[in-house]
Amino acid sequence: MYVIVLAGGGGTRLWPHSRSNNPKHLLRLVKSDTTMIQETVRRILPLTSPDKILVVTNHKHADEVRKQLPEIPHDNVLEEPVGRNSGPAVGYGALHVAHVDPEAVILTCPADHVILKEEEFRSAVKAAAQVALDNYLVTMGISPGYPDTGYGYMELGEEIKQVDGYKVHRVLRFTEKPDLQTATEYVNSGRFVWNSGMFIWKASVILEEISKYMPNLHAALQKIKDVVGTPEERHVVNELWPQLEDLSIDYGVLEKSDRVVTIPVDIGWSDVGDWGALAEILEKDENGNSLIGDVMTFDTRNSLIYSSGCLVTTIGLEDMIVVSTGDAVLVCPKSRAEEVRKIVNKLREMG
Ligand code: GDD
Ligand code: MG
Repeated sequence: MYVIVLAGGGGTRLWPHSRSNNPKHLLRLVKSDTTMIQETVRRILPLTSPDKILVVTNHKHADEVRKQLPEIPHDNVLEEPVGRNSGPAVGYGALHVAHVDPEAVILTCPADHVILKEEEFRSAVKAAAQVALDNYLVTMGISPGYPDTGYGYMELGEEIKQVDGYKVHRVLRFTEKPDLQTATEYVNSGRFVWNSGMFIWKASVILEEISKYMPNLHAALQKIKDVVGTPEERHVVNELWPQLEDLSIDYGVLEKSDRVVTIPVDIGWSDVGDWGALAEILEKDENGNSLIGDVMTFDTRNSLIYSSGCLVTTIGLEDMIVVSTGDAVLVCPKSRAEEVRKIVNKLREMG
């Protein structure tokens, strides 16, 4: 099995730790000694060999990615000159795999998610890989806890089979990032699962779906196909990428294709989208606090206090997030962690 690690996201809501020049996947967020992308690769290594793992990332982070992942061959880190969302990145990775073996099964996964139940994750991937051989686009469905509008929702259709004890459902409808009212209806209906953003499919199958539903990307990939593995490749990609539409694989293919199936899984998954989500999964002391770095607290409960670079002290806090990175400090209630994107947008406006 091949693995394509998508490492292009920013992690806006984890400001001030995550910045555009220091994206989430390159940070030590959950563990003190390994970064998110290192954890991602460590988690999948039992399923494949390092030469079958590809990473698609922005040119400006490629050297850091290679440094963090010394076991991955240098040329397996594919570089994009600019981010054009996950659609092009997925297609580019699949093109490389197809160059070697078009019928190979690929696990495509984000570089910056947390999976607490690793064994369970790997056995679900193995089952999904068998399903993918029948030309399906296989997704991993997560039971939705609340109406999050940042996820893709999949309506469960008939159970088409069971593989190794996993139920495989047809997806009747894939809706990327519904509005709050729709998301609430979906969650209340009990018929929907979240898309975890991890996909299992054959290289030939996803490229075929791209040719049907993302014709401009397909045309670009056709041009790259002729030069894959040659010194020309970088040049051609650099020229084509800025002209591509910014489109995720979810909007581009998954909402449209009739080949989507899902395997509902319970793998302790989190995309660690904001500090509140991180606080959920970090270990807590007897007061319910997660304290990271040089931190001292008094009478503080259920809070995440994170410091890199200076001593942070708190008195009498409850359900709060405090993050200090040396040059910036964030203080906000846990329940409003999502709104950190407002700060980032404001800072961008101010240049
Ligand atoms: N190489 C590369 N280049 N990767 C990219 C780019 C890009 O331009 N843009 C996004 N990615 C990667 C991200 O790094 C991430 O690993 C993955 O593609 C998904 O992109 P996000 O930007 O994080 O998507 P999202 O969180 O809005 O939504 C996706 O994930 C949700 C689960 O976390 C969708 O798949 C949703 O349906 C899903 O529920
Ligand atoms: Mg995401």
